[in-house]
Amino acid sequence: MNPTNLAIEIPAFAINAASIAFLSPAAAIFLLSETLTPQVIVAFGFFKTSPDSLCEVAKRKRKKISATKASHPPVRPGMLSPMRTVPMSINRPPYAMTGNPGPAVSSNVRTDEEIERMRLAGNAAAEVLLEIEPFVQPGVTTDKIDQIAHEAILERNAYPSPLNYRGYPKSVCTSVNEVVCHGIPDSRPLANGDIVNVDVTLYLNGVHGDTSVMFLVGEVDEESQRLVLETRTALYNGIHAVKPGEPINIIGRTIENHARLHNLGVVREFIGHGIGTEFHSGLQIKHYYDPYDSTVIVPGMTFTIEPMLTLGSPACEMWDDDWTAVTRDGSRTAQFEHTVLVTDDGVEILTKTKDGVVPAEQVLG
Ligand code: MF3
Ligand code: CO
Ligand code: CO
Repeated sequence: MNPTNLAIEIPAFAINAASIAFLSPAAAIFLLSETLTPQVIVAFGFFKTSPDSLCEVAKRKRKKISATKASHPPVRPGMLSPMRTVPMSINRPPYAMTGNPGPAVSSNVRTDEEIERMRLAGNAAAEVLLEIEPFVQPGVTTDKIDQIAHEAILERNAYPSPLNYRGYPKSVCTSVNEVVCHGIPDSRPLANGDIVNVDVTLYLNGVHGDTSVMFLVGEVDEESQRLVLETRTALYNGIHAVKPGEPINIIGRTIENHARLHNLGVVREFIGHGIGTEFHSGLQIKHYYDPYDSTVIVPGMTFTIEPMLTLGSPACEMWDDDWTAVTRDGSRTAQFEHTVLVTDDGVEILTKTKDGVVPAEQVLG
């Protein structure tokens, strides 16, 4: 079932998020789950709730959150537009037809030739974020942002990686206020004071580039601005911790330390990932310190770092659409993401324009 066919099968009128959940290939997800470890299942949010063990950890660590932490009014699901189509001339990832990416099989390190292609995919993804920025205004729906991004991606001869990935119905993720990640663009207009993450992944010449930033919509309160700024700093501190020979848990350790210093929570249910010829490949990049995660960082690895920090408790729950993750206490949350390459002596950010412009550094001034 490719996106084009889906667009025909779905009635031309708008459908809501609940019916999309029905349309998503749950059977494929169920089958896949048998081949995946619980950690990976949690990482990509395939299931409504996290495994009990994680819930317990979250509960025990939860502090009493004052009601004022909750974002008001809460974000609610809107209506979905029909699935967007991609011309047959554009090269698609293997899962675009079936929705099923299969198990991750690629190596943790890229060849020089793959790295060169990943630079180009990273350039294009960064350019798309810059193109979206002027549209992120009060009154603009997240569906409109999806449309702008979809068109900007096609213009670059690329495929929007999320589209039909495990049945995901849109081309980007738009996560507003208390939405932690994987928010589905819909009919909800952005409101003055919202904070929104737009997460762009595209597939160009056989490789993916994955990056996201926060946008401030109109006048945003100071506490939310602090959350957004410190989340960005946490990402950059995590990136700068990357060095060949170090254990990979140094990334999460650095991010968690920064969050703690600023009294912010770190979401545990979603993690960064290896990326390259596959959207989500073997490597797991936690954003908290896991002393047992001692995989050694080596040159040629490509992965994302994408911390989600919260003003209140980092505990998450999932909407009925099986995608949208929100904080359980309704507190606001922020995320930034880069795709990075491990070099011989450090790290290179791949998701910047070919002139070196980094959207994350532009959008907040
Ligand atoms: N771009 C997201 C990430 O950072 C993944 C989105 S998968 C989707 O890993 F299906 F929700 F789009
Ligand atoms: Co990612
Ligand atoms: Co992403």
